[in-house]
Amino acid sequence: MPSSDNLHVLAFYSRHPISRDQILAAVHARRGNLDGLAPEDLFAYDQDHYGGLSVVDALAERARIGSGSEVADFCAGLAGPARYLAHKYGAIVTCIELNPHRASGAADLTRRVGLAQRVRIVRGDVMHVPLAAHTMDAVISQEALLHVPDKRAALSEAFRVLKRGGRLAFTDWAEHRRLDAADSESMWRGIAAQSVQSFASYPQMLREIGFRNVAVEDLTADWGRILEERFAMYRNLREETARLGTPTGDEEFYRSYARLVALVQERTLGGGRFTAEK
Ligand SMILES: C[S@@+](CC[C@H](N)C(=O)[O-])C[C@H]1O[C@@H](n2cnc3c(N)ncnc32)[C@H](O)[C@@H]1O
Repeated sequence: MPSSDNLHVLAFYSRHPISRDQILAAVHARRGNLDGLAPEDLFAYDQDHYGGLSVVDALAERARIGSGSEVADFCAGLAGPARYLAHKYGAIVTCIELNPHRASGAADLTRRVGLAQRVRIVRGDVMHVPLAAHTMDAVISQEALLHVPDKRAALSEAFRVLKRGGRLAFTDWAEHRRLDAADSESMWRGIAAQSVQSFASYPQMLREIGFRNVAVEDLTADWGRILEERFAMYRNLREETARLGTPTGDEEFYRSYARLVALVQERTLGGGRFTAEK
């Protein structure tokens, strides 16, 4: 039975603005039909993280992903990064995704672009990964472990499924300074963050699990710029909607979003890319 915390995370992604239907609608608007889709038809719409394809390239480079690499993508969403890794690098990717709508959306998008032989979608929880030990060359994850209550369990699963010498590369929110209780609550309500590790505790946890050659990159400035641009767009849209006298949407989400932007600007919260080897 999913806990009430997991239900909040499931609900957050069931009403998320990026969805299979929204991606297909955008592609249809551009092409006029959905016939004979190729992977690159989706790439402008199917990446649910900051920085688009170039940051998937950065993860691929850190994880040394190449032709034939067996890759697990933890919290794969609609499998946009997985399809890109299969298409551009020739990787074979297994996606682990909790939300049933996202898992079925991921499978449908993958089938439509002819990548079902190279990208497998498994509905599951990254704290209990249904993959055999020592089978993966790389494990990746993007901006998702914040939703996972027990990050040590998820990263231990990454360690278990990796072959010796296999590599882990992931991005996530991380604290530069401790969030207070009110801000933790706001991040839970706003972006379904179960908890956030710090820039110091993540590498320590990785070493305790058994990983070596742990490296950390601070992406806070990049994420801050992207977040501010998105927030400005959202705020303008909201003001426009208010001027027209129509409902402006979820006030609580707006307040949490504004607080998230402020926390990144003052460098309490930031983004990190973490790399390690088994
Ligand atoms: C920000 S999205 C990232 C999607 C993808 N990595 C990308 O970059 O396009 C986070 C995803 O994590 C999934 N998720 C959250 N908790 C999970 C868990 N415990 N196990 C597996 N997936 C989970 C959510 O359902 C959501 O689809």
